[in-house]
Amino acid sequence: MRLSCTVNGVAREVDGLWEGESLLYVLRERLQLPGSKNACEQGECGSCSVYLDGVLVCSCLVAAGQAEGCSVVTVEGLAGEEQLNPVQEAFLEAGAVQCGFCTPGLIVATHDLLSRVPSPSDEQIREALAGNLCRCTGYEKILDAVRLAAARA
Ligand code: FES
Ligand code: FES
Repeated sequence: MRLSCTVNGVAREVDGLWEGESLLYVLRERLQLPGSKNACEQGECGSCSVYLDGVLVCSCLVAAGQAEGCSVVTVEGLAGEEQLNPVQEAFLEAGAVQCGFCTPGLIVATHDLLSRVPSPSDEQIREALAGNLCRCTGYEKILDAVRLAAARA
């Protein structure tokens, strides 16, 4: 099977996909974009979050074929050439990164939230990030990071 799609603004073609292959597998193993993490592979943790045609999805639950002709944006695609995205910077500055495994998914989900709700309440932040699990931080620093990113936007 062949997949043609745009990833982080660049047209990509991948050959030899097997039928059940996930978009997450394509991104990590075939396109060398390891930012999206594979933690549960069941749609439970959010560490694999990406945009698919502008919609936040768990890429482990998207069959690669569903991305045919679509635009995919990963955490790598949020950064500029020489500068991190403000959400990425806020996570670093707020100390919201420990082991970092959840961080890419949280950053994409936060980016999505702030694009829809520029000044979210704590309740809105918690609801938007409810699908992103973190084992390390206790979430407080993550909330701080989202508040910081929102304040700067
Ligand atoms: S790896 Fe996709 S939701 Fe956990
Ligand atoms: S920083 Fe380790 S899982 Fe979140």
